[in-house]
Amino acid sequence: MEIELSCNSYAFESLTVEPFNAEPPRSALISSYVTPVDFFYKRNHGPIPIVDDIESYYVSICGLIENSKDLFMRDIRMLRKYNITATLQCAGNRRTAMSNVRTEEKMIMLSPGLTSYEMQHAVWSGAKLADVLELVGIPNLTSVTRSGGKHVEFVSIDKCKEENGGPYKASIPLSQATNPEADVLLAYEMNGEAQYSVVALFLVVWATSCLNPVELTSWLTLNSNAYSKFFLSIIMPKPLNRDHGYPLRVVVPGVIGARSVKWLDTINILAEECQGFFMQKDYKMFPPSVNWDNINWKSRRPLMDFPVQHNTETCWLTVRNLLTRGRECDEAWKADPQLLYNLQAKVSGYAVSGGGRGIERVDISVDGGKNWVEASRYQKTGIPYIADHMSSDKWAWVFFEVIIDIPHSTQIVAKAVDTAANVQPESVETIWNLRGVLNTSWHRVQAIGKTKVIAFWQGVSGNSVMRWRNRINHFID
Ligand code: MTE
Repeated sequence: MEIELSCNSYAFESLTVEPFNAEPPRSALISSYVTPVDFFYKRNHGPIPIVDDIESYYVSICGLIENSKDLFMRDIRMLRKYNITATLQCAGNRRTAMSNVRTEEKMIMLSPGLTSYEMQHAVWSGAKLADVLELVGIPNLTSVTRSGGKHVEFVSIDKCKEENGGPYKASIPLSQATNPEADVLLAYEMNGEAQYSVVALFLVVWATSCLNPVELTSWLTLNSNAYSKFFLSIIMPKPLNRDHGYPLRVVVPGVIGARSVKWLDTINILAEECQGFFMQKDYKMFPPSVNWDNINWKSRRPLMDFPVQHNTETCWLTVRNLLTRGRECDEAWKADPQLLYNLQAKVSGYAVSGGGRGIERVDISVDGGKNWVEASRYQKTGIPYIADHMSSDKWAWVFFEVIIDIPHSTQIVAKAVDTAANVQPESVETIWNLRGVLNTSWHRVQAIGKTKVIAFWQGVSGNSVMRWRNRINHFID
């Protein structure tokens, strides 16, 4: 098996090359509910392995069970396939902001600018781990096997220096692994469904606009062979991307990304949780009093469910009531500079909570948190989101949006509340921790200064609304 660096990185703002780590630009994540694969963040602790002989690839299931078993891809594909829509989030998401709080305590950083937007949302397809474990005689909803197994360890193919050259590994409790409702997947495809629907829509629009029914039938008859092969190659669900765990990865919805082990090699049933570095010496949260001199790793549990989190992704400003008037904007402004005092902002972003908890509310403030307005929430366009309802994707993020008056240059603040009434903490200072994990503090976006608008506006003449809006956008932090 060869090891080489993957280089699917063109869409990314910052990365480390070895190991390969990257995150998408800020605006990319809000651009679609299901994150396109090219905009997935990449978080690796070792070089990305290549598995090219898929026929001989298998996963061993062993440990505290009666009968060990090796499962080939064809065995896993024989099991019922589930499509689970889930947001993956690294525990180090927004670590950069936390590292700026106490500069004297050195945090483990990947690179400057990285670890701000380590979140993504995909449709994962594969077999449920609960079904796979049934194959080795562990029934659904088991918390202890007859031989005393209580935890399920996932061991990977990739090797990392933190494990002294050994494989990346992590574990989850057996009770979670054997619970079909927990939706833990052995995923072999990602975003297959989304591609199908986009291409299907494209085909329908194209066929109805270009061809009448008679032409369409004859075209299909004539070209069926070549074109059907081409379209099939597009619409067939795509296997996992190599960066994200091809051929098989674990997806543990609602839990920090570190437990969703990529490039799966072995599933081990253990009496205790995995003793690997990333369970015992990383991805733990310590109180603010702990530093590198007094740290006791054993005193804390490995992180599992992530807390309620959000990011404000886009924010553009406009002068109220003027956008629809096109070029008149310029003239109107020149006639009445007071218009500047009527600034509005569209604030949008995404919010998610761990453990399958839905998002109850997202509040936005433009006066530092004294007054709040509630943003509207949605997962599918045009369908209002109702937390914990059958129509909502339980493991998935929720988009929010609100248009709000901005009286003057200001900081826009947002906070989300989940269905258990957990609220994001106000400041990063209050949740600072040595490892820089779980920065879920209110997200703050600096809105444009009035003087900047005036300076900009005075230089504008006859611009179209779009150009005007884009230029304004430029001033948003
Ligand atoms: N699995 C393996 N084998 N090796 C890794 O380095 N990184 C983990 C997890 N699974 C990792 C892994 C971490 S820390 C995260 S946040 C997610 O994978 C990132 O998944 P992604 O790179 O597909 O976005």
